[in-house]
Amino acid sequence: MSRDVDTDVYPPPTKRRRFVKGVVGASALVGLAAIGETAVDLTTNPTGEGGGVTEYYGIDVVGGPAPRGMPQIPVEIDDEGYLRGIWPPVETAGGGAEAAPIARTQLGGITYSNEWFQYCGVEIAPGLDPTADEDNYFRYAESSQYEWQNQEVSPNDRVNVDDFEDYETWGNGIGQDGVGKPAVATWRSTNVEDDAAAVIPVQLIRSVRVERAAQESRWLGASTQEGFIAILDKCTHFCCVPGYKIDPVSARYGAANGIYCPCHQSVYDPFVVSRQSFVAFPRPEGEE
Ligand code: FES
Repeated sequence: MSRDVDTDVYPPPTKRRRFVKGVVGASALVGLAAIGETAVDLTTNPTGEGGGVTEYYGIDVVGGPAPRGMPQIPVEIDDEGYLRGIWPPVETAGGGAEAAPIARTQLGGITYSNEWFQYCGVEIAPGLDPTADEDNYFRYAESSQYEWQNQEVSPNDRVNVDDFEDYETWGNGIGQDGVGKPAVATWRSTNVEDDAAAVIPVQLIRSVRVERAAQESRWLGASTQEGFIAILDKCTHFCCVPGYKIDPVSARYGAANGIYCPCHQSVYDPFVVSRQSFVAFPRPEGEE
């Protein structure tokens, strides 16, 4: 078995229970369509006060200091091929003074809610207000490291399946071609265009690996569509915005086919999804 570059640079979390046997570190980024669902990562779940333990499905960390994976945004595609992030119906949680709106639903056999995204300050983004008036379409971001995105589509255009027709062969010289075609987008941020800090960043990838995995996993069958996976693009370490195939330097960390955070070299594998958890912040003050 060849040496694992990531293991040499950053030892993988030893307590993490991986749900795909035999997939360790950066090896998952190279040749395996390793997506599944069984393990719960509770190793980063501190005790103490907070908004409670939130379980979510996210892509795994396979290197670097990030404590846990970045959450998925379940994807749906409308009749014209435009991609949306699923936003659950709003209900009231709790009672009396504790009553508060929450966007929550059952999807693919698990509970999906807006609580998945309550970290790194995203929890106070206006778009994450359960009742925010948003259409949920993914829109291309203002700036992108991807040449194809800069040349073929415009910022704020809605993302369409047709833009990704070459996803089975696309490459940009970083890592292998044909692993997946990416875009950077925004979600539920149409009312905060003047406030970059309030924009919710999304990494989109269309990949045959996701297509295959969706046939094997009830959750991925429900949360991905036509090979598209969407990820809230906020690093769980110190909240930078990582990227898929954005930096040739990522190859040094075994991340040429993965998602790399340039701030402190965390590596995420967009093709390994597991159930994870964190302690959410308490509800923001003033939200009754
Ligand atoms: S690795 Fe530190 S912010 Fe991403």
